[in-house]
Amino acid sequence: MTTTGTERTHAMTCLLLAAALSAALLLPLPAAAAGPAGAPRGAELHKAKGVACADCHGKAKKPSYVEAAQCLTCHGPAEALAASTAQVKPENPHASPHWGAQMQCAVCHLQHAAPVDWCAHCHRFGFQVK
Ligand code: HEC
Ligand code: HEC
Ligand code: HEC
Ligand code: HEC
Repeated sequence: MTTTGTERTHAMTCLLLAAALSAALLLPLPAAAAGPAGAPRGAELHKAKGVACADCHGKAKKPSYVEAAQCLTCHGPAEALAASTAQVKPENPHASPHWGAQMQCAVCHLQHAAPVDWCAHCHRFGFQVK
């Protein structure tokens, strides 16, 4: 028996679906939650705007995680940031019923890796994070 083009296309679709599903089960987040591959990272975007390493990391010899309070010295106060994205649909990423405007920024806006729609662990808001 020879397979027709349609059957082959269908088989391919099933294979792709199966691959996508198993990938979805293995990954902690849906692939769509990550930023576009090769897009400039947060720290590079900041550098282009004149924000230096020390503006986030201070004088630490060994830079590590940057707390929201540091981001908010430039982007705050938290309530004003939340107000600036009040129109974002379907929900405001900066004002959730769980944490209000008080949350860590770098769970979404990673600065040295692709940004992440962190809410996608549980919701499907489809946030486009930079
Ligand atoms: C020293 C001030 C400063 C600090 C600290 C700072 N930023 Fe920024 N950030 C800026 C400036 C300036 C821009 C560019 C604003 C513009 O172009 O309108 C920017 C842009 C952004 C953008 C928007 C990027 C875009 O292209 O739209 C995000 C998101 C952001 N910062 C998040 C953060 C986070 C998260 C932190 C902490 C980890 C942080 N920033 C720390 C000054 C700062
Ligand atoms: C749940 C993920 C998430 C977290 C946590 C988060 N953001 Fe955002 N942020 C977003 C999304 C999504 C956008 C883009 C909104 C849009 O579509 O315009 C955004 C946009 C921004 C912008 C651009 C605002 C504008 O007016 O265009 C800045 C600056 C920013 N975030 C800073 C921060 C800072 C500072 C924190 C921590 C206090 C933070 N964000 C926490 C998801 C997040
Ligand atoms: C806008 C704020 C911001 C700027 C500017 C920035 N960083 Fe970071 N950095 C972070 C955050 C937030 C983290 C936590 C990990 C992440 O978000 O990717 C981090 C983590 C790090 C770490 C620890 C990495 C790890 O795995 O623990 C190092 C080292 C570092 N940064 C170095 C730098 C250097 C060098 C520069 C300048 C070229 C720089 N950073 C600029 C926010 C910033
Ligand atoms: C660990 C899982 C988890 C994470 C992460 C999470 N949520 Fe939720 N969220 C829930 C649960 C559970 C509910 C309650 C749903 C219900 O009662 O119907 C909820 C309810 C909500 C609601 C009320 C409306 C609705 O859709 O039910 C909003 C708005 C919301 N979350 C926003 C956010 C935002 C924004 C983020 C990211 C900053 C986020 N959540 C992250 C689990 C989560």
